[in-house]
Amino acid sequence: MLISGGLGFVLLLAAAATSERLDYYYKYHPMEEISRWMSQMQTDHPDVVTLVDYGQTYEKRTISLMKIGLKTDAKKKAVWMDCGIHAREWIAPAFCQYFVKEILQTYKTDPKMELMMKNMDFYVTPVLNIDGYIYSWKDATTRLWRKNRSPGPSAGCYGVDLNRNFDANWATVGVSSNCSSEIYCGTRPISEPEAQAVTYFLGSRAEDFLCFLTIHSYGQLLLVPYGNPNFTAPNYDELMEVGRGAAAAILKVHGRNYTVGTSPDVLYANSGSSRDWARQQGIPLTYTFELRDNGTFGFKLPEDQIQPTCEEAYSGALHIISYAHDKAFNGAAAATATVWSVLLALGTAKATLL
Ligand SMILES: *[C@@H]1O[C@H](CO)[C@@H](O)[C@H](O)[C@H]1NC(C)=O
Ligand SMILES: *[C@@H]1O[C@H](CO)[C@@H](O)[C@H](O)[C@H]1NC(C)=O
Ligand SMILES: *[C@@H]1O[C@H](CO)[C@@H](O)[C@H](O)[C@H]1NC(C)=O
Ligand SMILES: *[C@@H]1O[C@H](CO)[C@@H](O)[C@H](O)[C@H]1NC(C)=O
Ligand SMILES: [Zn+2]
Repeated sequence: MLISGGLGFVLLLAAAATSERLDYYYKYHPMEEISRWMSQMQTDHPDVVTLVDYGQTYEKRTISLMKIGLKTDAKKKAVWMDCGIHAREWIAPAFCQYFVKEILQTYKTDPKMELMMKNMDFYVTPVLNIDGYIYSWKDATTRLWRKNRSPGPSAGCYGVDLNRNFDANWATVGVSSNCSSEIYCGTRPISEPEAQAVTYFLGSRAEDFLCFLTIHSYGQLLLVPYGNPNFTAPNYDELMEVGRGAAAAILKVHGRNYTVGTSPDVLYANSGSSRDWARQQGIPLTYTFELRDNGTFGFKLPEDQIQPTCEEAYSGALHIISYAHDKAFNGAAAATATVWSVLLALGTAKATLL
């Protein structure tokens, strides 16, 4: 009892030391390490980080997100971020881990981040397509796996492209009905448990969310809705302007050029993406990030690019999140400022009277 307790304590210390080392964030991690890190973050920051289980993968693994925010009595708004919906895009989960580390550090010294964490909760899913991610780590032959791992309707084919499986203009363009295809959209909208998990969790509280960011690679793009060129988001101009601001923020960090636009305008038309579905749920600021690079290494982005990629993408994400926050809460901030200026004016008046 004593011995195992002592050992557990030592292991806990070792784990804490691991995730506090900066170079932890500049390596790719297999799923079991990411899961351990998620638990460790909750242990290290019990007042701000809560793990929430919200679904199961085809292979019955638990899908969890990290809910991050400061506890207040007020009703809070929220920001969504998911990584690893496509298995082979390893830089995406690495970015979610970096993002979480960064906000947990920043809010302690930066009043703006503290305010955002008071007004909003961040819902971060480091790996959405867990079965696919684990499969992409299996060996060199499976490294470039993209889809989930559910068996198709005919023998020998596996996997649905989860980013073609959401209930948003499903199967209208940029998909395949061939279950061996990389862009197989499934037999019906949200046929897949991973897409169901997001749909049911987020769909039941969509009005709380100001912002939906889904992280992919590669191409250095910020994509706005919609993937089907026949539809235009009602706030297309706002999405483009805020997206261009994010691209400018990204460019400043390491000089990388990100292109902003709808999928059909800057990449290819598609349907059934989670971004399009989120916009249709009424979440105003929905973006797909296609991180580095622009084709040199593609999905196999070298580990020495994790740090610069995360630094610049963090800056871009923060631009969008700050915009969303300020738009929703500036009314309140302005009101507080008015009260203060009235009080100050009264104070001044009183002082002059004396
Ligand atoms: C389905 O896709 C696979 C992989 O791209 C291809 O080899 C096969 O010929 C396709 N089948 C049909 C019926 O098009
Ligand atoms: C756009 O609408 C036209 C007219 O209804 C239709 O023919 C076309 O297939 C649609 N395109 C897409 C990509 O859905
Ligand atoms: C990719 O990005 C690099 C670095 O920013 C740039 O030098 C190169 O021209 C870009 N290549 C393409 C194909 O856009
Ligand atoms: C970024 O790329 C766009 C086209 O994709 C190009 O027009 C622009 O000049 C590039 N800007 C920089 C700073 O490289
Ligand atoms: Zn992707």
